[in-house]
Amino acid sequence: MKTSSISNLLNVQPALQKITIKGWVRTFRANRFIAVNDGSTLQNIQCVVDFESFDEALLKRITTGAAVEISGELVESQGKGQAVEIKVDSIRIHGDSDPESYPIQPKKHSFEFLREQAHLRTRTNTFSAVMRLRSALSFAVHKYFTENGFYNMHTPIITGSDAEGAGEMFRVTTLDLKTPPVSDEGNVDYSQDFFAKETNLTVSGQLEAETYAMSLGKVYTFGPTFRAENSNTSRHLAEFWMIEPEVAFMDLDGNMDLAEDFMKSVISYVIEHNKEDLEFLDQRLFNEEKQKPQNERSPMRLIEKLRFVTDNNFKRVSYTEAIDILRNSKPNKKKKFNYIINEWGADLQSEHERFLVEKHFKCPVILFDYPANIKAFYMRLNEDEKTVRAMDILFPGIGEIVGGSQREERLEVLKEKMAALDIPEEELWWYLDLRKFGTAVHSGFGLGFERLVMFVTGMTNIRDVIPYPRTPQNAEF
Ligand code: 4AD
Ligand code: MG
Repeated sequence: MKTSSISNLLNVQPALQKITIKGWVRTFRANRFIAVNDGSTLQNIQCVVDFESFDEALLKRITTGAAVEISGELVESQGKGQAVEIKVDSIRIHGDSDPESYPIQPKKHSFEFLREQAHLRTRTNTFSAVMRLRSALSFAVHKYFTENGFYNMHTPIITGSDAEGAGEMFRVTTLDLKTPPVSDEGNVDYSQDFFAKETNLTVSGQLEAETYAMSLGKVYTFGPTFRAENSNTSRHLAEFWMIEPEVAFMDLDGNMDLAEDFMKSVISYVIEHNKEDLEFLDQRLFNEEKQKPQNERSPMRLIEKLRFVTDNNFKRVSYTEAIDILRNSKPNKKKKFNYIINEWGADLQSEHERFLVEKHFKCPVILFDYPANIKAFYMRLNEDEKTVRAMDILFPGIGEIVGGSQREERLEVLKEKMAALDIPEEELWWYLDLRKFGTAVHSGFGLGFERLVMFVTGMTNIRDVIPYPRTPQNAEF
């Protein structure tokens, strides 16, 4: 018999159908009710057993976590809590689960505990909901760009360049670390390495995406990126997924419009298509917030917050205006910030970003025109020669979720900037070529996918929105 998915079964009218389901036992109550989940939906299906018709030894093996195949008749449920249930004819146990040692007991587990059991944590409601949403968001990203005339491009994972110039890279090498070849000057001789040069895992696909934008027009890359920054925070991973569109003939205003429209579109997609999981996570977060003191609770529930983002314009504010607001803010004057803002030019910390979004504007904010010296080399210099055409999007509860810019398209200006930062022209000759052969205004941005998943699911630790988080001192699984 064909296997039905539980999510489909819950939507059909029972009419003397014989069906088969396959999944994992969540609970077995009173020797009569087996709750089975197959991952297709948050909901379990109730399977009702007439225990006198089954071998006792078989029923003993129906324990939490066991993999089962159950056939029977789909009937209207006698009990409350579900519309349909299965009157069981036959049970096959594919795999037993020792109830004593199975880590995912039918009770509340802490997220910290579940992180250590990440291979099993998607057998809980919270993590299955989060990961189904992650999958839906990924689909919505591809859908948005495909429908808007973008080409998907696979940028390299191994590269020789440091796109962000932050030096936070993981080296890729096949050299013997104990006895690496050494040059006459006493340095490691990378000409003898696999690629005959120094290589690392990419921190961003942007520079390569720019090359394709300058021929295909509108492209995007959505791939893993790697940063060896030793920041053990709830918002940083050493391996994360980034979405980077890049568009020829588009300036910074167009870039902000694109980013805003894109964010709204993917969030609307899951509001429409993933109601069940979102409602569950909305309730979960609400219950959690209730434990907090009144003044620390979020003023909006999760789905309300998502709708707020899709229904309101993002506030566009220049860096200079933001600095004025921060300088005159209460936490700055009362020295409540860890980093006090004294003057123009200061880099913004997440405490400042969150103040602007959560306390001051109370909506998503796009900050633009940052000081040149706190941003990457490729951003277009403004006429004031002090600021660059950069933009960061800040979200409530998250802080920076998007970083982007209009790119420096003028060869001489770019060369000067690279020289000032000691970036060798030989390394980026192909990037400079774009400015020699048919250069044009172009722009793009990067969205940290996990930060988007955090925002949509209401999860507060980035380790809980990626299957197997990579963070300092941790690469289990
Ligand atoms: O602001 P970032 O560093 O920008 C870039 O990499 C540009 N090349 C993007 C572009 O213009 N094409 O990173 C972009 C976004 C951040 O806003 C943040 O959401 C996310 O990537 N991000 C991280 N997410 C998780 N863990 C980390 N360590 C992250 N670092 C950045
Ligand atoms: Mg950034």
